[in-house]
Formats: sequence, C-alpha cells, structure tokens
Amino acid sequence: MFLLANLGIASVITVTIAASDDAHGVFQFTNKSLSVIGTEPEQGRNTVILQVMRSFGALSNVTLFWEVEPAAKQDLLHTIGNVTFSVGQNVSDIILQVSQDKIPELDQIFKVTLSKVSHGRIGERSVASLTILASDDPYGLFVFSESRRPIFVPEANINVTLTIQRLKGLLGSVRVTYQTLKEMDIAPFHTPGVGRASEGSDFMAIRSSVTFQANQSEANVTLQVFDDDIPERGESIFLELVNVFLIEGAQDRPSKNLNYVFLNVLSE
Ligand SMILES: *[C@@H]1O[C@H](CO)[C@@H](O)[C@H](O)[C@H]1NC(C)=O
Ligand SMILES: *[C@@H]1O[C@H](CO)[C@@H](O)[C@H](O)[C@H]1NC(C)=O
Ligand SMILES: *[C@@H]1O[C@H](CO)[C@@H](O)[C@H](O)[C@H]1NC(C)=O
Ligand SMILES: *[C@@H]1O[C@H](CO)[C@@H](O)[C@H](O)[C@H]1NC(C)=O
Ligand SMILES: *[C@@H]1O[C@H](CO)[C@@H](O)[C@H](O)[C@H]1NC(C)=O
Ligand SMILES: *[C@@H]1O[C@H](CO)[C@@H](O)[C@H](O)[C@H]1NC(C)=O
Ligand SMILES: *[C@@H]1O[C@H](CO)[C@@H](O)[C@H](O)[C@H]1NC(C)=O
Repeated sequence: MFLLANLGIASVITVTIAASDDAHGVFQFTNKSLSVIGTEPEQGRNTVILQVMRSFGALSNVTLFWEVEPAAKQDLLHTIGNVTFSVGQNVSDIILQVSQDKIPELDQIFKVTLSKVSHGRIGERSVASLTILASDDPYGLFVFSESRRPIFVPEANINVTLTIQRLKGLLGSVRVTYQTLKEMDIAPFHTPGVGRASEGSDFMAIRSSVTFQANQSEANVTLQVFDDDIPERGESIFLELVNVFLIEGAQDRPSKNLNYVFLNVLSE
C-alpha cells in the first residue's frame, strides 16, 4: 500500500505497510460461548457447540486448533481438534461430544483453549469453560429394597424393619425423609382385594428421616404394626420416601428420587 503526501516543494515520501496479521483475522470465542454447559447423555452422545468468531480481515483459509484439558478425556470423545474458516467466513463451530459413562460424578469444569491458528492471530477471549453437569446420581438413588414386592406381615404387635438402599453414588452425607401414607391418602398403586390399614389403630403413623454418611449404602427404618383385635380382611400400609436432602457435599444439586414400599398386613 502506498501513501503519497505532498509536503510542498517536490517532497514525496513513500510508506509501505506490510499486510498485518489482522488481515487474516483475529479469532476468539463469542461471548455466549465463553461458558457453556453440557450434560452426560442417557445413552450415546450429547454435543456442545462453542462458537468462534473471526473479526477484522477474512482474507485467507484458516485452520484453528483447539484443545480441552487432558482431565476431560473420560468425558469427551475428543479433547483436541481443529475447525476451518474459508475466505470470508467469520464464524465457525467447535463441536464437543460428551460421552456417556456409568461413573457417578459431580459437576466438572474443563477449560477449552484456542491453541493456534494457521494464519492471523488468537484474540483475548481464547479460553472458554465447559461445565459437564453431575451425572449418574453422585449422591445416590434411594429406594426401599423391598419396593418391588409387597411384604407380608401378620397382624400382631410387631416392629417391621425396612431397608432403604442407596444405589449408584455414595458421595456426601444425605438425609432421606420417609413417611407412612394416611388411610385417606391416595395409594400410589392398587392392591386388589386388600383394604387400607388405619393409622393409629393398625400402625403407628410416622414421618421421620434417616441420615446416610458418605459411603453408607443402606439404612434401616422401623414401622410399628399393631394388633387391634378386630377381625378384618387384609390391609395395606404404604410408606414413601418424601425427599432427599444433601447435608454435606461438594455442590448443591442433589438428585431426588421418590419411591414407595407397601406392606400387606394379614389378619390372623
Ligand atoms: C463481549 O464481551 C466484551 C467484554 O465483556 C465486550 O467488550 C464486548 O462488547 C462483547 N461483545 C459482544 C458481541 O457482545
Ligand atoms: C481456500 O480454499 C479453497 C477451497 O479449498 C480454495 O479454492 C481457495 O483457493 C483457497 N483460498 C486461498 C486464498 O488460499
Ligand atoms: C483437523 O481435524 C480433522 C478431523 O476433524 C483431521 O482429520 C485433520 O487431520 C486435522 N488437521 C490437522 C492439521 O491436525
Ligand atoms: C459475520 O458476517 C455476517 C455477514 O457478513 C454478519 O451478518 C455477522 O454479523 C458476522 N458475524 C460476526 C460474528 O462477525
Ligand atoms: C417396637 O419399637 C418401639 C419403639 O422403639 C418399642 O416401644 C416397642 O416395644 C417395640 N415393639 C415390639 C413388639 O418390639
Ligand atoms: C469413601 O470410600 C472411598 C473409597 O473406598 C474413600 O476413598 C473415601 O475416603 C471414603 N470416604 C469417607 C468419607 O469415608
Ligand atoms: C438392616 O437390617 C438387615 C436385616 O433386617 C440387616 O442384615 C442389616 O445389617 C441392617 N442394616 C443396617 C445398616 O443396620
């Protein structure tokens, strides 16, 4: 490029400016791609897109290389790659593929960096953060171990022990609240030919909670069943898990799983 400046009497200066790097573009993440969230898929893969923009010039074909920190290897299909920009193209997408695993994990945050370009230069916004949300129930999935089948108990003064199991993750300490359903509460499922037991006369109504320490996988709870001396047909008592509360853990995003168990109380 030439600049001609007339400074007066036959005086001419010539200035040559080399095509600056910026003629090929300055590459950086778009603002909304600086922080993105991915989820681990139930099956297969989920994709997360980060958009890179090119500003100033767009004179050449450019290959832009990106990398994610190595710790992400377990969670992403690829941790390095490249995207191309053709002449005139000002945006391109980095596509990250989150893969599935069976390991209960907390939220994980990884840095995605624009590492180099074949032409032009990398701008200021060259590092984005990718958050992969907690997966596979790191704090556990709580169920009554007997929930797949009814428990038969005789109508007598007895204490029935029920076990709450913590499946999947064992991280953190968690309080699980459980309660008996009242006779008038709608049953979660039908028990044909069997009536509902009455709180107070047939069983002791409870609402209570039990704490699972880190690494604890089961806890027992007790239900008191009474013999009321009234001849009756069979009766059902339902217990439900009401909620799950994270007492102490690395992050505040507990998973919540509700579940029922029922007892068939047989009159003698
Ligand atoms: C992106 O963020 C920077 C710094 O916060 C700001 O200067 C810029 O205008 C934003 N760009 C767009 C396109 O919003
Ligand atoms: C860019 O790439 C296209 C297709 O690969 C090619 O036709 C073109 O000549 C290239 N342009 C430059 C400036 O290298
Ligand atoms: C760019 O990525 C493609 C796959 O997307 C790969 O085949 C190619 O080798 C990469 N190019 C360079 C220069 O690493
Ligand atoms: C890219 O170019 C198109 C068309 O020239 C324009 O509308 C768009 O705003 C540009 N995007 C960025 C990120 O510069
Ligand atoms: C059941 O447990 C309660 C409270 O722990 C106790 O008072 C009661 O005696 C027990 N009943 C039987 C039959 O063991
Ligand atoms: C739980 O178990 C793991 C592996 O067995 C162990 O590394 C960790 O320290 C335990 N945590 C607690 C709080 O006991
Ligand atoms: C719960 O009760 C079962 C049998 O009723 C027993 O084997 C198990 O050890 C108990 N678990 C705990 C954590 O107390």
